[in-house]
Amino acid sequence: MSSPVVPTVPDIVVAAERRAAEHSFVCSCAAPTGPLLATLAAAVRPGGRVLELGTGVGVGTAWIVSGLEGREDVEVVTIERDDALADVVRNAKDPDLPVTVLTGDVEAVLPGLGTFDLVFADAEGGKWSGLDLTIAALAPGGVLLVDDMDLARYSAPEHRAAVTRVRETLLTHPSLVSVELATGTGHILSSRRPR
Ligand SMILES: C[S@@+](CC[C@H](N)C(=O)[O-])C[C@H]1O[C@@H](n2cnc3c(N)ncnc32)[C@H](O)[C@@H]1O
Repeated sequence: MSSPVVPTVPDIVVAAERRAAEHSFVCSCAAPTGPLLATLAAAVRPGGRVLELGTGVGVGTAWIVSGLEGREDVEVVTIERDDALADVVRNAKDPDLPVTVLTGDVEAVLPGLGTFDLVFADAEGGKWSGLDLTIAALAPGGVLLVDDMDLARYSAPEHRAAVTRVRETLLTHPSLVSVELATGTGHILSSRRPR
């Protein structure tokens, strides 16, 4: 009998997880978010664009890059408000992460960036607040993955209210088709209708 296939973790992700340990950063995306990101990135159209909201130390970024497998026609942009974290990813040399790291608050930076074919919303900005900006940044046919949507993770009433608001907006938005996934920390996956 053949042994079961064990999914491998790409080297670029291993390096990012090492950075997380070195910097005691504990908020990186957890399985299965990373492989889901890689899967979605692999489907981005030629010449497409990918956006991550909340870079951390680049674990999610690395999963996105792994899904692109060296495709230079796809632009990857990630936004992080913490200067030090943004620099960690910008200066990553193990190997380089071929991405543009923008420093600033998502809600300030996002309006000038145009539209994207895949958006990973993993920061409070652009999710708990400014979700309208994130939806507006989705190209027609674009896909949005929103992380940390499991309400059971939150006890503070204001956090529960924010997550509930995000869920309601995504599930009822006329331009979106959305599905809740009981995976990892809870995801909502949305596609923007072509028109
Ligand atoms: C959950 S961590 C991101 C993890 C990363 N996406 C990954 O998958 O490894 C959230 C990050 O978003 C950043 N952040 C939170 N609110 C933000 C905002 N309004 N604008 C920009 N970055 C923000 C935090 O500093 C933190 O690094």
